Amino acid sequence: MKNVDFSKLNFETIAVHGGAEPCPVTGAIVSPIYQTSTYTYENTDIAEKIQTGKMPGFKYGRDHSKTEIELEEKIALLEGGEACKAFASGMAAIAAANIGLLNAGDHVVCSEIVYGGTFGLFKKLLSRYGVEITYVDTNDSNKVEAAIKKNTKILYVETPGNPTLGITDLETMAEIAKLHNLKFIVDNTFMTPYFQNPLKFGADIVVHSATKYMSGHGDCLGGAVIGKKDFIQKALHDPVTKLGATISPFTCFLIKRGLQTLPLRMEKHQQNAMSVAKYLEDNPKVEKVLYPGLKSNSQHELAKKQMRGFGGVVSFHIKGGLAETKKLLDNLNLIHIAVSLGDVGTLIEIPSTMTHQSVSPEIKAKYGLTDSFIRISCGIENTDDLLNDLDQAFSKI
Ligand SMILES: Cc1ncc(COP(=O)(O)O)c(C=O)c1O
Repeated sequence: MKNVDFSKLNFETIAVHGGAEPCPVTGAIVSPIYQTSTYTYENTDIAEKIQTGKMPGFKYGRDHSKTEIELEEKIALLEGGEACKAFASGMAAIAAANIGLLNAGDHVVCSEIVYGGTFGLFKKLLSRYGVEITYVDTNDSNKVEAAIKKNTKILYVETPGNPTLGITDLETMAEIAKLHNLKFIVDNTFMTPYFQNPLKFGADIVVHSATKYMSGHGDCLGGAVIGKKDFIQKALHDPVTKLGATISPFTCFLIKRGLQTLPLRMEKHQQNAMSVAKYLEDNPKVEKVLYPGLKSNSQHELAKKQMRGFGGVVSFHIKGGLAETKKLLDNLNLIHIAVSLGDVGTLIEIPSTMTHQSVSPEIKAKYGLTDSFIRISCGIENTDDLLNDLDQAFSKI
């Protein structure tokens, strides 16, 4: 770009122009997809210099591609971080961020409410390599302090937490992490950088599932880790690319394209979510609605302190049990029964048997993740069409 100082530009402009270079050969405004696994060199001297890092250049597709670098630049700019490393999925990004920091014998303090896959990563994989995990209610700073031990290295938080949408105070957690010399990692998937920037509140590292709102169209998987240049290059890029969880150039292109419309989509996701939350709050067949955008939500003020919006996901308990839940979901016509979230289309699911199967029975019981607990990811469809679909399905139970 000609003389553009991104630090002076606003989010919507960065979403369009950040990391976007017209093709230097043809002038094509949309940068080409560098769909190649390897690179050739003019001669063996240049090959050796590039492969040994003495000269800048591309080494191999697993290392990175130009399309990946463009995506990483855009995400780093949007999240307000020094650098970003993209991965083949959100779970690959989360695993990489943790593996990049941990050694056998280290301890992690983690929010009790996190995506089921993250819970599974700690419980089923990292624990086998001598990493100890303590799950705590990160809404309670005393409990977080009490869980920290001599070998604690990471404080891991997801806010809002999937699927109960509980908010963790980022500033307070950052202070605790600093005091105890921990790395503070935040999963910002639900808010995206459009609604929340954890680095501004003192987080060290932000992780994302780019599969969700960032790409936004339900057609690819991707993930990202954002943090200081030193961490991304030394702790993450070099060792963790050995895992081979490389994001493909075509996927980078899709996520880059999706990010250009992130602000517009997030506004509409949020508008639909607010309407759905209000509809559910007024519905006598609903026991409780969990959405931080509702004034009745006990964490509404905290949400406003650190978020610029409330996102597109609403969770709720219906009156009754599994039979009523199934009847409601099975009678929906427009809204799809599916895991995942952040797509342009609305998706609904039962976390206890779908996304959050691997969460422990104790945590499920504590947070009410029962058969009548439902999560809806509101898309960008017409609001009335969504409410009508919900209403006709509710009339069947
Ligand atoms: C909050 C959150 N983080 C991470 C992930 C994992 O991302 P991916 O499915 O891209 O691996 C998910 C997936 O649902 C999620 O909801």
